[in-house]
Amino acid sequence: MPQRYFLTTAIDYVNGRPHLGHAYEKILADVMVRHRRSLGDDVFFLTGVDEHGQKVQQSAQKAGLTSQAFCDQVSDQFRALWQRLGLSNDRFVRTTDPTHKTYVRDCLQKLHDKGEIYFKEHEGFYSARAEQFVTEKDQVDGKWPEIYGEVVQTKEPNYFFKLAAYQDWLRQYILDHPDFIFPAFRRNEVLAALENPIGDLCISRPKSRLEWGIPLPFAEDFVTYVWFDALINYVSFADPGLPTDRWPADVHLIGKDILIPAHAVYWPIMLKALGLELPRQLVVHGWWMNRGAKMSKSVGNVIDPEPYVETFGPDALRYFVMREMSLGQDADFTDDKFLQRYQSDLANDWGNLVQRSLSMIVRYRDGIVPTRPADILTPLDRDLESEATIVLFREAMEAKQIHIALQHLWAYLQQANQYVEQSAPWKLAKDPVLAPRLDVVLATLAEVVRRVAVLTASVLPHTSEKVYAMLNLPVTPESFRLSEAAYGSRLEGKPIQAPTPLFPRIEEEKKA
Ligand code: ME8
Ligand code: MG
Repeated sequence: MPQRYFLTTAIDYVNGRPHLGHAYEKILADVMVRHRRSLGDDVFFLTGVDEHGQKVQQSAQKAGLTSQAFCDQVSDQFRALWQRLGLSNDRFVRTTDPTHKTYVRDCLQKLHDKGEIYFKEHEGFYSARAEQFVTEKDQVDGKWPEIYGEVVQTKEPNYFFKLAAYQDWLRQYILDHPDFIFPAFRRNEVLAALENPIGDLCISRPKSRLEWGIPLPFAEDFVTYVWFDALINYVSFADPGLPTDRWPADVHLIGKDILIPAHAVYWPIMLKALGLELPRQLVVHGWWMNRGAKMSKSVGNVIDPEPYVETFGPDALRYFVMREMSLGQDADFTDDKFLQRYQSDLANDWGNLVQRSLSMIVRYRDGIVPTRPADILTPLDRDLESEATIVLFREAMEAKQIHIALQHLWAYLQQANQYVEQSAPWKLAKDPVLAPRLDVVLATLAEVVRRVAVLTASVLPHTSEKVYAMLNLPVTPESFRLSEAAYGSRLEGKPIQAPTPLFPRIEEEKKA
């Protein structure tokens, strides 16, 4: 039986175009699930958009559109970019979907019937940017931190979910499940936050203040708090109750800004109160920064992924964000770093290895991969057949250290490029006596190229497909299974295509 692996991402607010931080998370998710598929797992990958709430309603008003028309427009931009980046999600979800709305209302009714929800007058401070009530305790030096944007005082009657009653249970659950929150230092932050009383959760907004939401089934003049609505997407789109039901998720992939309280406090308690299983793990990534500040639509320092994808291709952006960020930490985005990675890692190390290996097979052997005479193999040839890189790669992927996994692959690429220099096929080609030696080198290189295409496929899927096309190998769902990365001399005696550059030189005007 293949192991099931159900991964979700955060669903992004559609208050503006997707930015690099959103793209990073979705690429990371895609790399994680592609890796699982390469191990033969039965994967389900959910991503999508969060369409309700004050922030979206305000943005729609500014754009002079109805909330629905605005959501349709921005959701399409998200979906289009995800397709362009090659995301292999099974579903793209929208919280305005009628099945989701019905499911949220059913959950609310169930909790109401169980006595988990009550009504009371409430006075407080609300941050639309964070879509959260905040208290004076959240102030720093008597001021609201930047992440909250404008904070307004509210006084209105609302519905509350009895969160506080579950505080001890939650603390114990997190203590009993050390892997529930990754990385571990985030788990400690959650446990520290649980040292203070969590209070109950206001889950409604009067329609007089906010229209754009799911009406409460037991009080139709109120809409559901956007976080309560959004979190439920993870279950509502998993086909709950149907034979295709995927719940519980193995991984909720989220950014560090939405761990506490939404995913580490509200969500586990909502599930517990609903009698549903908890997700196995929250995987928490850091932030992409730009000029020292978190990249965010509200701050206005976002980087639009689109021009990078247009100029350098989707795989270049995928590679860059996977290679530059250590999962859990923050990272800086700069054009210099991006160009450096493109030129050095992609164009030189990988692109050039493919280019010269295949060109030499075309030039010296009429495009037919020669057969390696086994009796004349040297340790240098044998080294490239080693499984060591695959083991290291796999271990790093399992530890969610994708940047390390890539470092191992690039060490192997360097070894392969050195092998070309040391073997100097262009010299071997000059002496007919050395023809068997040239056969060995060319056949070894063809197979190394094939192996690297398999190993890099989860990060560079489009590139691996191109390489497979050059090798005349079919691309099937099984082509890039990790087991295919074993050295196999599968190409000997077979024709290949003349290569075209994988990562072409970019003209200076375009780079700018
Ligand atoms: O929070 N770097 O939506 P969102 C890395 N709708 N990741 C970033 C980032 C950055 N600079 N900026 C944002 C929401 N993100 C809710 C989620 S889930 C049920 C509801 C990440 O559009 C952020 O951490 O503000 C989050 O995981 C995702 O993008 C969506 O952020
Ligand atoms: Mg945000």
